[in-house]
Amino acid sequence: MDVQSSHRINIAIDGPAGAGKSTVARLVANALQYIYVDTGAMYRAVTMIALERGLSSDNEREIGRLANELEIELLPGEGGQRVLVDGADVTGRLRTLDVNRNVSAIAAIEAVRKRMADLQRKMAAAKGVVMDGRDIGTHVLPDAELKVFLTASPRERAERRFRELGDNPGITLDQLELDIAERDRKDQEREFAPLVQAPDARFVDSTGWSIDQVAEQIVEWGRAAARTISAGEK
Ligand code: C5P
Repeated sequence: MDVQSSHRINIAIDGPAGAGKSTVARLVANALQYIYVDTGAMYRAVTMIALERGLSSDNEREIGRLANELEIELLPGEGGQRVLVDGADVTGRLRTLDVNRNVSAIAAIEAVRKRMADLQRKMAAAKGVVMDGRDIGTHVLPDAELKVFLTASPRERAERRFRELGDNPGITLDQLELDIAERDRKDQEREFAPLVQAPDARFVDSTGWSIDQVAEQIVEWGRAAARTISAGEK
């Protein structure tokens, strides 16, 4: 049975920074012809606009209001997902050091999370979505038919993010590893929807694995889950 004739499911991929979630999620979505949703990009977009407007991360009320007012759209594109804020393409401005350093504080604001989770649930309502983030399996889509918690060693995660920063990273690998550890700590310790493995998630430590190997494993699990559900409906 090919995937098109079987049931469409939602796949949640959570884990710490730099675990390869986005790349893996994109490959899985392509293989299954599903829609890929990068939820980190949404928190980054709110952070980038807040920084641009000079709002400090402890100004929770204003940032909550901003998150509710902004129109954030994710569009599948040739070179990956594009992010539009109020109609303007901000994709290239979301992965700066400044955004990296502030995003966890802004993502900890309850009003911001509630708004993003609402948007994310709408995107997943028709099924056939691969969504990556921190709280997808635990909070946003607790009914996702397949949940994966993806991690890798701190060094490997820092190396992956270092490569993403290109020729002029503006930071050393050691400093980046410390920054990532700090971001993970904030994501794990926040009160509302922290980063934690869902009890029913499959745990994958991708240290030493290629991204393709990880994606293939998840596609296999996804196909099996879709088949099981289709079989149960007959
Ligand atoms: O996935 P990425 O590293 O781009 O996410 C950036 C930040 O956005 C995370 O460190 C986290 O603070 C926040 N985030 C979140 N919940 C999600 C996705 C991302 O809090 N579902």
